[in-house]
Amino acid sequence: MLNEKIINALNGQLNKELYSAYLYLSMSANSTFIGLKGFANWFMVQYQEEMVHAMKIYTYINDQGAKVKLKSVEEPPSDFESPLDMFEKTLEHEKFITKSINELADLVLGEKDHATYMFLQWFINEQIEEESNDVDIINKLRLIGNDGNGLLMLDKELALRVFVPPAQTQQAGSTGGTAP
Ligand code: FEO
Repeated sequence: MLNEKIINALNGQLNKELYSAYLYLSMSANSTFIGLKGFANWFMVQYQEEMVHAMKIYTYINDQGAKVKLKSVEEPPSDFESPLDMFEKTLEHEKFITKSINELADLVLGEKDHATYMFLQWFINEQIEEESNDVDIINKLRLIGNDGNGLLMLDKELALRVFVPPAQTQQAGSTGGTAP
């Protein structure tokens, strides 16, 4: 059983995850537009992962007998200065999400809601991986600088990223394991 404060905070986090998906979809579209198909693939996989994050929260709220409340999703930026700009904005956004998850964890601990605290552990771990992936790519982009060949090589590397559907444990419901 979730209390009102926690239901509101979870619905807020659901909205942030949907915005994250929207943001990375926009970056994927921008990458396609500028001819970097590997970058476009990387951001498309990131979009799919964010939809998984959103649906995990959606399913958890439902499973706890509370009501999901969908809010408006903000318009993401659609113009970016460079591939480095996209990844710097990605890292900045992920730091914001990490802060938000940590605040949510503080709230549920304060409310002695141990079930939700356990639920959030997956997100806390996921954020470590997300930020680390972004830092790796930013470092590569800084090394590449203005070297077009280096950028094309990184584009080939990012083309290899594959969306791996999560284990079905928290995905009972309409999403199944397929990409949205
Ligand atoms: Fe759902 Fe990228 O955090």
